[in-house]
Amino acid sequence: MSSVNKSGTFKLGSRSVNRLGYGAMQLAGPGVFGPPKDRAAALAVLREAVTSGVNHIDTADFYGPHVTNQIIREALAPYRDDLVIVTKISARRGEDGSWIPALSRDELTQAVHDSLRNLGLDVLEVVNLRSMLDVHGPAEGSIEAPLTVLADLQRQGLVKHIGLSNVTPTQIAEGRRICEIVCVQNQYNLVQRADDLLIDSLAREGIPYVPFFPLGGFTPLQSSTLSEVASQHEVTPMQVALAWLLQRSPNILPIPGTSSVAHLRENLAAETLSLSPQVLQALDGIRSTPTSA
Ligand SMILES: NC(=O)c1ccc[n+]([C@@H]2O[C@H](COP(=O)([O-])OP(=O)(O)OC[C@H]3O[C@@H](n4cnc5c(N)ncnc54)[C@H](OP(=O)(O)O)[C@@H]3O)[C@@H](O)[C@H]2O)c1
Repeated sequence: MSSVNKSGTFKLGSRSVNRLGYGAMQLAGPGVFGPPKDRAAALAVLREAVTSGVNHIDTADFYGPHVTNQIIREALAPYRDDLVIVTKISARRGEDGSWIPALSRDELTQAVHDSLRNLGLDVLEVVNLRSMLDVHGPAEGSIEAPLTVLADLQRQGLVKHIGLSNVTPTQIAEGRRICEIVCVQNQYNLVQRADDLLIDSLAREGIPYVPFFPLGGFTPLQSSTLSEVASQHEVTPMQVALAWLLQRSPNILPIPGTSSVAHLRENLAAETLSLSPQVLQALDGIRSTPTSA
């Protein structure tokens, strides 16, 4: 059945997932706001992903808002037993689509209940607390107050496992003193490499690192080296970018996003691509950010 297990599996919370997952953010409307242009196409992408063996889907109730989770429920419920849906809390959307921090006890509790209702679940398998100290990237500052609320919701049985997103190593250490942290989700790809050392230290502890924007996000990666490698291997640059992530470290669980079944198939096929040490070294030269962790 599955083409999505050639790069193996990794433990995420209490489940084992295929390393190549799917990020559902692209299924909302433009700017991750409102409904998609083509709802049937969004449903088809999700069904194709799961049929192809994807069993790790990343989402958030603030995509849309609510839209993406409602589409996931329509497409996939009742859910397969092996499917792990990971959601995020910490933001709400303004009427203009803006991203507004929502980190009070009431807002975090509401976000968990909204996610449960829109996904049609009794318990959320993994919830990431996304730091909003800087919307665009990790920024130092305590995450104790909101994480303590999420840990309370976990004790109430609404959340099984907790992860962190958009965080620094200091915040991960702080978080691990409050509750078990089962995954870290930060921006990372061939070009954005600030988390190189963090990935290696999480790997030593068996903690998954989930790179968001694995293909570069809203502006997919572009580089002459990437294009040359792709052409030498008769694949696409996006497939090379994903194969590089899968070979970078066994704890990396990429969640490429797409609204297109054709792109989904292309991305999942990256599992079969093996890059030689020489090619990996050439690709390493693309990085634009220094390692800071
Ligand atoms: N924790 C956080 O703060 C955070 C932030 C952002 C995202 N995320 C999560 O990370 C996931 C991945 O990020 P992302 O979806 O924003 O970015 P991405 O996976 O890096 O790239 C998605 C973009 O690449 C295009 N694309 C996908 N496959 C392609 C292919 N084979 N060829 C050419 N273009 C392709 C998509 O367009 P098409 O739709 O046309 O394919 C879309 O524009 C999200 O879905 C979300 O779940 C988390």
